[in-house]
Amino acid sequence: MKLNQKQIDEFIKSNRECLLANWNLLDNSQTPRGQNLEKPSAFKSYATGEILELKKDVNSLSSRVLDDIIMSRRSLRKYQDVLLSLDELSYLMKCSAHIRKIGDSYALGVIPTGGARNSLETYIYLRKAENITKGLYHYMKDTGNLRLIREEVTDALVDSSLKGQLRDCAAVVIWTAIPYRMEYKYSFTSHKMIAIEAGHACQNLYLACEAIDYGMVALCAYDQEKIDEVVRVGNEEFVVYCATLGKK
Ligand SMILES: Cc1cc2nc3c(=O)[nH]c(=O)nc-3n(C[C@H](O)[C@H](O)[C@H](O)COP(=O)(O)O)c2cc1C
Repeated sequence: MKLNQKQIDEFIKSNRECLLANWNLLDNSQTPRGQNLEKPSAFKSYATGEILELKKDVNSLSSRVLDDIIMSRRSLRKYQDVLLSLDELSYLMKCSAHIRKIGDSYALGVIPTGGARNSLETYIYLRKAENITKGLYHYMKDTGNLRLIREEVTDALVDSSLKGQLRDCAAVVIWTAIPYRMEYKYSFTSHKMIAIEAGHACQNLYLACEAIDYGMVALCAYDQEKIDEVVRVGNEEFVVYCATLGKK
């Protein structure tokens, strides 16, 4: 499908409005929270699927200092054919998704999140990991472990959803947003905050990768329908950001 110029202009106008997000027009009494509607939960859980326990004591996996890590970070699109260890996987998930406090409708962790709404969910497609079943996993915010939710996901499916950008990586991290978590409190000003929150998660992952001699690249050029199908989400939860990663 090709957009016509009028449609393109309309997209640009509404997307710019999303970035402008005029807080002067936000009236709390017009938000779901202001109307005392039921609070959305800050975390999602799957009832079934093998649990992969991640290591929690992985803080000293890197001996590099922060300013060195920040200054040397680059996007990497070519990876060595090396298996991700459980320690490395645990470290990457901890640095980019760990939650330290979770309440009935808020969650606080390593990622700053507007109003503690925590609008993201984190998934990882593990392709090359030591003694770990290949498949799509969901990060469990309450326990800090991963749950295998789709073993039957194939490289071909993921590669096609990433428009050919799978690039022999060890893993693909996929962030989804559940916009209502943010909209509940911030209504039409939410969407900019959701995108920024995803940026924070991705940057943490970039730095964590760099710290342990892994490389990664952020990906926005994916096929929305296909990637949502990989994760089995859509409408109230959808993919907003991805990254491939592997050993430098
Ligand atoms: C929001 C965003 C989306 C991106 N999407 C892609 C992508 O789909 N494919 C890709 O190869 N690189 C993507 N990149 C990586 C950029 O191309 C890269 O960050 C940029 O060229 C600067 O290089 P550096 O990260 O090494 O500093 C994306 C980066 C950002 C921040």
